[in-house]
Amino acid sequence: MKDIEQPELSWDEWDELKDPRPEENDFDGVVASAMTRRGFMGRILAVGSGAAVMGAGLMNSTAARAQSSSRFAFNPIPIATDFTIHVPEGYSWAPVAKWGDPLFSDAPAFDPVTGVTVDGQARAFGENTDGMELFNVNGHEIIAVNHEYANTSQNLPQTDGDVTSAEDVALLQNAQGVAVFEVAETDGVWDIVIDSPYNRRITHTTPMAIQGPAAGHDLLQTEADPEGVLALGTLNNCGAGKTPWGTYLTCEENFNGYFGSTDEAFERSDAFARYGIGLEGRYAYEKFDARFDVSVNPNEPNRFGYIVEIDPADPTSTPVKRTALGRFKHENAATAVAPDGRIVVYMGDDERGEYLYKFVSRDVYVPGGDTSTLLDHGQLYAAKFTDDGRGEWLGLTPEATGMDVAEIAIHTRLAASAVGATTMDRPEWVAVNPVAAEAYCALTNNRNRAVKPNAGGDDTPVNGPNPRAENNYGQIVRWYPENDDHAAVDFVWDLYVMAGNPSVHDDAYAGSDNVNVGNMFNSPDGMMFDSTGLLWIQTDGDDSNKDGFAGMGNNQMLVGDPVTGEIERFMTGPNGSEVTGITWSSDRRTAFVGIQHPSAPFPDGEGSLARSTIVAIKRDDNAVIG
Ligand code: FEO
Ligand code: CA
Ligand code: CA
Ligand code: CA
Repeated sequence: MKDIEQPELSWDEWDELKDPRPEENDFDGVVASAMTRRGFMGRILAVGSGAAVMGAGLMNSTAARAQSSSRFAFNPIPIATDFTIHVPEGYSWAPVAKWGDPLFSDAPAFDPVTGVTVDGQARAFGENTDGMELFNVNGHEIIAVNHEYANTSQNLPQTDGDVTSAEDVALLQNAQGVAVFEVAETDGVWDIVIDSPYNRRITHTTPMAIQGPAAGHDLLQTEADPEGVLALGTLNNCGAGKTPWGTYLTCEENFNGYFGSTDEAFERSDAFARYGIGLEGRYAYEKFDARFDVSVNPNEPNRFGYIVEIDPADPTSTPVKRTALGRFKHENAATAVAPDGRIVVYMGDDERGEYLYKFVSRDVYVPGGDTSTLLDHGQLYAAKFTDDGRGEWLGLTPEATGMDVAEIAIHTRLAASAVGATTMDRPEWVAVNPVAAEAYCALTNNRNRAVKPNAGGDDTPVNGPNPRAENNYGQIVRWYPENDDHAAVDFVWDLYVMAGNPSVHDDAYAGSDNVNVGNMFNSPDGMMFDSTGLLWIQTDGDDSNKDGFAGMGNNQMLVGDPVTGEIERFMTGPNGSEVTGITWSSDRRTAFVGIQHPSAPFPDGEGSLARSTIVAIKRDDNAVIG
């Protein structure tokens, strides 16, 4: 049994290695603006133009806390540095689905040493669980979940993680994508319902329709699909979303990393450069599957980077790529219904210095009505924040961008650059509060803030919602749409929290006042509101517990109260892992939480490959937990 080392480069490290950014020259200037903690707070509060800007996150004084009684039904837990999960006293956790668990009885059982077979993997739970949603379909509890990327050291143990053949590629292609499967609870224990008629695996080769403004465009046509309307597979499915009509939205994030060129002389376009599509893919797909070789199929990458809609109630349905929602490194899709019935989808583009977007549908949602083209027509916007606590959604229109609607849908990053949107510190999940007209976005971190431009050459100076140069901790920004209407163009914003380390720093890098040595964390990423309006925050950061991260321990899940700004730690993940993805059973007595890229021995103990896992968390008294 070889020693298992967990991964490997993060996606942004991999991108940076392949596509180093030019240095900016104004670093001295930004260091001068790295304010003291007190100075930072004073600035934000001084420029604020109303109560909204003086948000609870920054105003969470001791006095405010003393007045509020905590809404949290748990005692916060300390950090951990070990290889298991911890939850508060009175709560328990148990695995529900692990990489390689069969969804169908014809799939072989997972082998702790050799893992999965190529064909078995297409009939089993995939690798690297990420965003998920639960749907109750005719009384059945159905989870749809993303399998974001591969950990080749675990998935290909026979080759020590090297991708050496078409068969290795096929195994990885089957390990990623999406799983839809039924779960059931027996005596408090949740399990996969093997062979449920709802069970389905969607992989890197599953046929899916292309709809919306980009469908059929020249840039989407390939030899295999001259019409440009039918793609194979969905790539790097990261965060997720759920529509009011009961479909699942899966979001294609680092799709660029699957493409390469067998011809070293291939010259990439400016658009390929902006999207990070280079000569060498991360998993060598291009060497064994010509579809991923851009020197042979130069339009294939244009068919990825979208949000895909899947009907979890119909395993025979064809997933649909909704190009009207734009093409970028989609993190998740947070939906809201505007007062007039139009659908709003908030979306982050997770790369250093990229943008925050929203889509507003042209047509209104009518419960029970036809929703088959609701996400095909509408307006895309990118967010512009100003330092006075106000903001505006800039329409990505032909007039504003000089691009036609199909080009805007395909080269969305170029359109957002053209209108001068605000470069952000890696927008990860957006969450919409179900009990207040506000939305939150986790800006996970950005070591390039005020150091390097984004991939399009747009400068990334410190700015209102991204106030710290070389930001290794991250923050959560929130906004309040005008007239409580998520379709509105104007909003006001504040920072709910700035993560930081008050045991190491006494300036802005100590974090906002609602961060203390007892609850500190870095790199907020996954975020979801529960039904009571509490915000569950998951982290994907540095778990070294050293230097600037000393005292933060493993990645974790915290709960935030938007009203008081209070944040407390609910769960810690195993060392090496990221905590990502959360959904609840229909009775709200179980929270399902994802553990991605854990290190061995999680969860099966010594001698087994490491397995990404969805766990169920319950209160021991079986009370509602969110
Ligand atoms: Fe897949 Fe940005 O996280
Ligand atoms: Ca993420
Ligand atoms: Ca992340
Ligand atoms: Ca991840």
